Amino acid sequence: ATDPRSEVRDWSTDFDILDPDYVADPAPVWAELRERCPIAHTDRYGSTWLPTRYNDLAAIAHDVEHFSSRDIAVITPGRELNPEAAIMLIAPPITSDPPVHTWARRMLLPRFGPSRIEELTPITHALADELIDGFAATGRADAAQDYAQHIPVRVIARMLGVPLEDEDIFTSWAVTILQQGFQNIQGATDAVLEVIDYFGAKLDERERVPERERPDDLITMLVEARHEGDPLDDRHRIGSCFLLLLAGIDTTWSSIGSGLYHLASRPQDQARLRAEPELMTSAIEEILRFYSPVTMARYVAEDTEFNGCPMRKGDKILMAFPAGNRDPEHFDRPDEFVIDRQRNRHFAFGSGIHRCLGSNLARMELRVAIERFLDRIPTFELADPGAVTWSGGQVRGPRSVSVRW
Ligand code: HEM
Repeated sequence: ATDPRSEVRDWSTDFDILDPDYVADPAPVWAELRERCPIAHTDRYGSTWLPTRYNDLAAIAHDVEHFSSRDIAVITPGRELNPEAAIMLIAPPITSDPPVHTWARRMLLPRFGPSRIEELTPITHALADELIDGFAATGRADAAQDYAQHIPVRVIARMLGVPLEDEDIFTSWAVTILQQGFQNIQGATDAVLEVIDYFGAKLDERERVPERERPDDLITMLVEARHEGDPLDDRHRIGSCFLLLLAGIDTTWSSIGSGLYHLASRPQDQARLRAEPELMTSAIEEILRFYSPVTMARYVAEDTEFNGCPMRKGDKILMAFPAGNRDPEHFDRPDEFVIDRQRNRHFAFGSGIHRCLGSNLARMELRVAIERFLDRIPTFELADPGAVTWSGGQVRGPRSVSVRW
């Protein structure tokens, strides 16, 4: 029998998520694919589809019967973790389908609602100011390393109820597992096993504290959570800690860093935002759209045809949400950063039932981080435009942005 995929051979691409040109500037790759083969196919990561149009990404994200998130951590392209570590990465809700997804998400949701997040604003403000105190007088800083990197990890450590002094370990896990996991499988596996030990111990410790004396944080919530009357099993508890810690670190770090990179490299946008602070809300949304960091994955759950593509059970789909954010069918002037863009219904946080649970938190951190930087630091510019570096893979963002003022 002929392979049905032969019919779409002209849709094949040698797309490589780690290609240095793609990492430096992915938009031309998406534009080319969107024109030539809007749902491209590659065998680089096993049979994998790559939709680049907004409407296709939306349709796939909303069709959870055909396109599953179950165990997606295990299929992260180019990376085969050892099974013991991989299985522990299965962290509901992000790697589950309904019905598990429904209750796992519902359990976390109240902690990430607007009022809970609003309460964290003063803490975030203070954390940002403390970081700025460290470099304000020097006339230069690395906006990614000295600033953006630290805000999300410190905020989520507080929410979880783990010591801020462990920040460096959390960041190194995020970097080793999520960023370098592609190249350094052994390192990523070891880091996952460390995460398991760390949170296993934290959860056990908390369980031993009498109920009335437990602090009001996410670890206590996980210890006390019940599903159909039973406590959560260890895998679910540890997986949730892992997800909450890591989902917000390099994603938000990327967005804050991108925002500051943008303002440093586009003086007219920086001047306008300083002069018209009421543009902050639209500027934040445009940072999220234009520099959208996160590409996710799905499994094809059963053989299906989607827009003429013969998809087979077990095929993967790379959900390049950032590509949807540059679709000219959906956005006017998609490759321009429009600081006062209206009706910016972007995909930075995904779409459908898995839409980012931390979006209120991420938006708050992004707003506070940029506001405090603009407030405390005079007009700033890139110190060395050629030295800006970007992380590649499923989370793209600047990792070194040296600025001076
Ligand atoms: C899900 C992006 C920050 C927690 C997602 C998804 C995206 C995303 C695209 C959808 C995944 C999918 O469809 O498979 C981002 C971006 C962020 C950010 C761009 C920062 C700018 C955060 C933060 C947290 C967080 C701060 C907090 C801990 C989660 C969780 C999910 C998720 C738990 C899974 C939701 C579910 O499956 O129902 N995020 N995220 N994210 N995000 Fe975020």
